[in-house]
Amino acid sequence: MNRHTVDQVQEKRNSGDTRGWDTYWQGARDSDAYASGGVSHPAVAAFWDEALTAILPRYTRARILDIATGSGAVIESLSRRGDDHSFGVTCVDISEAAVDSVRKRFPEVTGVVADANEIPLDPGSFDLVTSQFGIEYAGLGAFDEATRLLDDGGTLVLLVHTRPGSIYEECTAARTAVERTRRCDFVPLAIRFFEAGFAAVSGADRAPYDRAGTALNPAIQEVGAILAEYGEHVAGDTIIRLYSDVQRIHNRIQHYDPNEVLTWLRSMQTELAQYEERMASMCEAAFDEKHLDEVCQRLRERGLDLGRAEALRPNDSGLPLAWILQATRGSQKEAE
Ligand SMILES: C[S@@+](CC[C@H](N)C(=O)[O-])C[C@H]1O[C@@H](n2cnc3c(N)ncnc32)[C@H](O)[C@@H]1O
Repeated sequence: MNRHTVDQVQEKRNSGDTRGWDTYWQGARDSDAYASGGVSHPAVAAFWDEALTAILPRYTRARILDIATGSGAVIESLSRRGDDHSFGVTCVDISEAAVDSVRKRFPEVTGVVADANEIPLDPGSFDLVTSQFGIEYAGLGAFDEATRLLDDGGTLVLLVHTRPGSIYEECTAARTAVERTRRCDFVPLAIRFFEAGFAAVSGADRAPYDRAGTALNPAIQEVGAILAEYGEHVAGDTIIRLYSDVQRIHNRIQHYDPNEVLTWLRSMQTELAQYEERMASMCEAAFDEKHLDEVCQRLRERGLDLGRAEALRPNDSGLPLAWILQATRGSQKEAE
């Protein structure tokens, strides 16, 4: 793995700039793309299959760069094709854990840990630069960087979060639901409740347990209301699992290890904070039409011919899933 920028990335991580993604990818299962109904929509995979089928036959061995790769969703589309001798893949992500997980699953892929605004690779190194719901997190400068890395005649293919859009709606709901769960102090109150409960089980006075139960009740009502309003599966089931586990432990408290329960609840506090941060970063990254126009203009100014700038809509229509952006760097050799 290219470690040129690890120090820089470490600094960003310390200042919170990976916005919860690095911790997320550290905890994610190897095969687990970040959970979201919209993102795993079959129309997304179908889009890549079609785009790759059109582009790859132009090359004997296409040099491909996937930006903000995460757990490697685009690389997965490439690997499904079964013609992996016909391309070489490099991936970039600001999260070292993400790059590590891709390298574990696809050892033949070159991994680079870097901010998409400053990728330590030579200009014109790639025939195809891709990104799925990633480059937009890094801001406009990352589009310049993607253009710099594209060789003459090379193609940029991007799926970018759109607002309004179905993934945007899903992330907004998840963000609000988690924010409300945190604001009603469900987890801190549950911690106090179980601390008093475990003490009572070991023979201490029961009154503090009862008082902590009374204090927790409004938060239980609020979380119940959140689940009723947004649906049980909101925020990738995180809230429903927390809510039911707290109730299950309460019903059989004498069978649980206090240390395990309290450690789990403390980790849930961090998990909820990071979940909210990740959802906020997704909502902020999404492009409306004005943003899309700005990026198209920028790509044209940097010499790219814009092929597609349109919404990806699943067959059942409804809100769009993403913006499709496809552009080609005009071959200077052809122009001469
Ligand atoms: C929503 S995930 C998408 C991951 C993957 N492309 C997919 O579709 O499953 C966004 C990814 O962007 C990465 N990311 C965020 N900001 C970045 C930046 N400034 N430079 C590079 N990667 C970044 C995160 O670490 C995360 O892996």
